[in-house]
Amino acid sequence: MFSHKEQMKIVIISVMIGSILCLHYLTFPALRYYHAVYRMLFYLPLVLGSLWFGMKGAVYICVSVSVLFLPHAIIQWEWFSVDDFHRFSEGVLYIGIAMILGFLVEREKKKHRALVRVRSLAAVGKAVSEIAHDMKTPLVAIGGFAKQVFKKLEPDNPDRKKLGLVIQETAHLESMVREMLDFGKPVELQFTEIDFNELVSDSVRVAQPIAKENGIELETDLATSLPSVVLDAPRVKQILSNLITNAIEASHAGDRVWVCTSLNSLGVVLEVSDHGDGIAKEYHESIFNPFFSTKREGAGLGLGIVKKIVETHGGDISFSANQEKGVTFTVRLPLRPET
Ligand SMILES: Nc1ncnc2c1ncn2[C@@H]1O[C@H](COP(=O)(O)OP(=O)(O)OP(=O)(O)O)[C@@H](O)[C@H]1O
Ligand SMILES: [Mg+2]
Repeated sequence: MFSHKEQMKIVIISVMIGSILCLHYLTFPALRYYHAVYRMLFYLPLVLGSLWFGMKGAVYICVSVSVLFLPHAIIQWEWFSVDDFHRFSEGVLYIGIAMILGFLVEREKKKHRALVRVRSLAAVGKAVSEIAHDMKTPLVAIGGFAKQVFKKLEPDNPDRKKLGLVIQETAHLESMVREMLDFGKPVELQFTEIDFNELVSDSVRVAQPIAKENGIELETDLATSLPSVVLDAPRVKQILSNLITNAIEASHAGDRVWVCTSLNSLGVVLEVSDHGDGIAKEYHESIFNPFFSTKREGAGLGLGIVKKIVETHGGDISFSANQEKGVTFTVRLPLRPET
């Protein structure tokens, strides 16, 4: 659960708290000035714990120090004397500082993670588009020439099947390269006023043949009376196509995939839900990362592109495990771009 480094940190904090508590319990209660200094020492593990473990660390330290110190506080209790009031306000201050420290550290960590992600995405995007650009021309040539030779071969030629495979695999590589090129480019949106449900229905219609081929029922549950929205229609279709394809790929024959729309206070909501095997917990942090894929032939760019398009629209995307089985991806998009 904890790495070796984290275990060491926990030991350091525990030893500090233990030593301070020993000082308290082994010093005669009447030596108030000593106890006042020892109480101040509690800030050391608190600061370290908050810095190392954020809000969780701060809360754990606060609770354990309070519980372990309670018997001593009871021994020193003088029925509402000035000293009692001092000790009580010190305790409140201690908890307050712990919460503020934990909150600030957590916020900084989040900002740092976002910055690292943006920087690494930009670097990956640049490298990917350079590679994809160099791969595109030879791939188009291979595919084109293979098709020409394929057409000239007699139907009973034994090499026809092999060449068919070359064409199929080249087409697959070409589509991966197209995705990689798309990933490297900044998303520029062309806004138009559209009927969101119609757009969803179109995308579902396009995906129906693949769903059928895999024995999957693709169903829709569209909200009535959705207002018209101002979005980039082809890009939103890209979102739908990627999410529906993933849902179909995750499903087993006989399963159902649902595509639903609704309205909330911020805009339109799109949900794509399947009854597949779901996403393992250890992959939760990675699925939106470029090139993360658990599929033999997956480029691992679909969700990265989807996230980029959604965020460029000012929306957000999340996913959650379904109660029985599978996963639901939820996309929230504003009704119109912010001006
Ligand atoms: N509906 C889903 N159910 C289970 N796992 C999913 C689902 N959607 C995505 N994933 C996981 O997230 C990973 C990343 O998805 P993503 O769409 O980015 O790439 P991919 O589907 O593997 O490849 P491609 O680039 O062809 O889309 C998948 O490989 C899969 O492990
Ligand atoms: Mg995909």
